[in-house]
Amino acid sequence: MSTLTEVAHTLVSNRRGILAADESIGTMSSRLESVGVEPTEENRRVYRELIVTTPKLSDSVSGVILADETIRQKLSDGQTFPEALAGIGVLAGIKVDTGAKPLAGAPNEKVTEGLDGLRERVTEYVRLGATFAKWRAVITISNSMPTERAVRSNAHALARYAGLCQEGGLVPIVEPEVLMDGDHSLAQCQQVTRAVLRCVFDELALMQVDLEGMILKPNMVVAGKDSSEQPGVEEVAQVTVETLRETVPPSVPGIAFLSGGQSPEVATSHLGAMQNLDPLPWELTYSFGRALVGPALETWRGNPDKWEAAQRALSERAVANAAARVESKG
Ligand code: G3H
Repeated sequence: MSTLTEVAHTLVSNRRGILAADESIGTMSSRLESVGVEPTEENRRVYRELIVTTPKLSDSVSGVILADETIRQKLSDGQTFPEALAGIGVLAGIKVDTGAKPLAGAPNEKVTEGLDGLRERVTEYVRLGATFAKWRAVITISNSMPTERAVRSNAHALARYAGLCQEGGLVPIVEPEVLMDGDHSLAQCQQVTRAVLRCVFDELALMQVDLEGMILKPNMVVAGKDSSEQPGVEEVAQVTVETLRETVPPSVPGIAFLSGGQSPEVATSHLGAMQNLDPLPWELTYSFGRALVGPALETWRGNPDKWEAAQRALSERAVANAAARVESKG
């Protein structure tokens, strides 16, 4: 087994999942402000220290995705974040895209940037202790979207990113996110997710990306958050797995879902319901951001007296998701 394949398997096996703590400076700052915390570099560091020092984190978390700012920062004890994670048996990942920017000729659609200089940045991130990476593309659904231009541009960029990561020794997490924004139906989300994943795997094949050394991070197939018809948990699970079976080759070791704005409890229920849909050719796990850390941030609110309670809130979500991965069959 190559190192890439080993890392990919480690990330998705043993009931564990991936914690996404890689919000950009802008996004992290708004999240801190939303709970009354001044959005300084130090406060972003402290908040990330709260996350990675949560007791028993490694029981349910295999990897933590860091932001560029965080991978260069240190914990209060002087360790870097990758060193602290390695010390508890958790892999360090790094978000390497530089954000979704307006796509020329496609009003209201975006293409994710960050390919320029990526080969050199991958080398640096490996030196800083990263073993895997993330790149997020966003696809919007409306009457006129997504355009083929947006889907193909994003799939192409994801594949070039994945190839560069594997060349430099990082396992790429390939994240084509079909957004929940809008009032589209479950069927529309399925149709778009299917088309996006097909295009992504076509591009990955073109770039000769080793599917055994990557992780797919898709959205679950859900109705738009403004849709009046919200499907039940079992239906979401069934349609999501059906869509993945149609599009994701079995050689991909694992699929780690994003939460995308679902409540923490609903995201966990969906994950649990999918485990019952045997036979699954890949591990199905989580790579949640908000659905894992949201309750902790709400609890902490920058108050040192709430540090332990916030860590308990994170721990509860992590343990619940790990437990969902072994939902009893039947
Ligand atoms: O890129 C998105 C994050 O990695 C996952 O975040 O679970 O809050 O959607 P989310």
